[in-house]
Amino acid sequence: MNTKIVQMREGHIDEVLIQEAGEILKAGGLVAFPTETVYGLGGDALNPLSSKKIYAAKGRPSDNPLIVHIAEFGALAPIVREIPGNAWKLAERFWPGPLTMILYKSDQVPYETTGGLDTVAVRMPGNQIARKLIQAAGGYVAAPSANRSGRPSPTLAKYVAEDLEGRVEMIIDGGDVEIGLESTIIDLTSDRPMVLRPGYITRQDLQDLLPEVEEDSTLMRDDSGQAPKAPGMKYRHYAPKGDLTIVKGTEESVLAYINAQCERKESKKTGVIGTDSTVGRYCADVRKSVGSREDEEAVARELYRILREFDDEDVEVIYTEAFDDSGIGQAIMNRLLKAAGHKIVEVL
Ligand code: TXA
Ligand code: MG
Repeated sequence: MNTKIVQMREGHIDEVLIQEAGEILKAGGLVAFPTETVYGLGGDALNPLSSKKIYAAKGRPSDNPLIVHIAEFGALAPIVREIPGNAWKLAERFWPGPLTMILYKSDQVPYETTGGLDTVAVRMPGNQIARKLIQAAGGYVAAPSANRSGRPSPTLAKYVAEDLEGRVEMIIDGGDVEIGLESTIIDLTSDRPMVLRPGYITRQDLQDLLPEVEEDSTLMRDDSGQAPKAPGMKYRHYAPKGDLTIVKGTEESVLAYINAQCERKESKKTGVIGTDSTVGRYCADVRKSVGSREDEEAVARELYRILREFDDEDVEVIYTEAFDDSGIGQAIMNRLLKAAGHKIVEVL
């Protein structure tokens, strides 16, 4: 398949191209597009064949449900059994934005889209290109992150092209994403609202609105006996090719530990994820900074790009500093823990 790659910016949306992309989706084709979190791989959410194509293009197991993207609140009612009070509250505060809600689905949503579940994940993105595209496509776009299964979610269109060129009809390059980590997911079908995936909207943000909010106990721990509640969280999703270890401790102890390890691994290509104040002091072969430790938003934005760069440079052993796991840091650490297969070393 020949993939058409087009460029657009939120402030300069090409309506003709958006219509063309919308027609592709309506006809059952696939279009990758920017959102404020990461790039999405879109298909018509109400067309079972489109969902099958998404799984095939991604190389993703079909028991892993897709998020249905909508552009306006009025589009929610037809695809869910009911809109509970908590969904109204959350939508009012956080939509459009990086929040996905799990609700009971209506008959409109095919099981192919929900991976066989009776629930559906719904999100209204804030990115203007995404919203125009959803409208042009008829209102419902199923979209997982636009990466091949097992690779970090793409935060730049060039990574979408790397993974999906030849597998989708169109890629809309909308420039760098704003957030860089996938949306926060909250399940509203259990007794108490439960966070299934941490993101830019933090536990505290949610608790301010819904004090009874809980979180899936598998988010930050490797509870091997228990399955995560979001089917996709059970896969080793965000895995770099190199063997990744998180090192936690004081700045000096982390530096000393990582440098000692890199020296011992001299036959292998080593890499380090550090911060602006430490990166120059590591002796690994490849050193990258995620920015300033204080600027968590920047760390979130840089993380996946850096993991991909380590892949491109064939780094075999990677060490990363740990981050504070409160606020957005919880999402950063959740992704790092998954990428590392929960390999974390504490040094004193
Ligand atoms: O920010 C995002 O959410 C991005 C952009 C493109 O919107 N999308 C994204 O989709 O991250 P994906 O497919 O990579 O991750 C969706 C996650 C998976 O872990 C999946 O298992 C979970 O949401 N999920 C989807 N539907 C669900 C459901 N009905 N119940 C529980 N988990 C669900
Ligand atoms: Mg994904």
